Amino acid sequence: GVPSLIRVTPSILKYNNGRKGKPAWSSYHGKVYNITPYLPFHPGGEGELRRAAGKDGGKLFMEVHPWVNWDNMLGECVVGIMVSEEQARD
Ligand code: HEM
Repeated sequence: GVPSLIRVTPSILKYNNGRKGKPAWSSYHGKVYNITPYLPFHPGGEGELRRAAGKDGGKLFMEVHPWVNWDNMLGECVVGIMVSEEQARD
């Protein structure tokens, strides 16, 4: 079914950096993905993918493989959309 998306602020994204038992989230084009289940499958290695955890992964991603379709691969891992701290308050 259609997943319900949560609103994710920059501080929430930063918190979910994959360390200390927390999930690894990464944003791309304003959408937030839980990349945790994909970590062991990433062809470039888990360590490389972890560099994008807790932040916007777009720049790193485009530097390495702009031909890869992020949303096709991780569409089922979408957790929410990015909003500013101000937007999250109302
Ligand atoms: C390779 C997916 C994020 C670094 C690949 C490949 C895929 C993939 C499918 C194989 C590409 C090919 O052979 O043409 C993804 C997805 C990502 C992601 C879905 C988003 C969550 C990243 C990030 C980095 C990275 C953020 C770097 C910080 C690499 C590297 C390779 C690679 C270095 C090359 C491995 C090699 O050929 O030796 N990735 N990736 N990836 N990825 Fe990613």
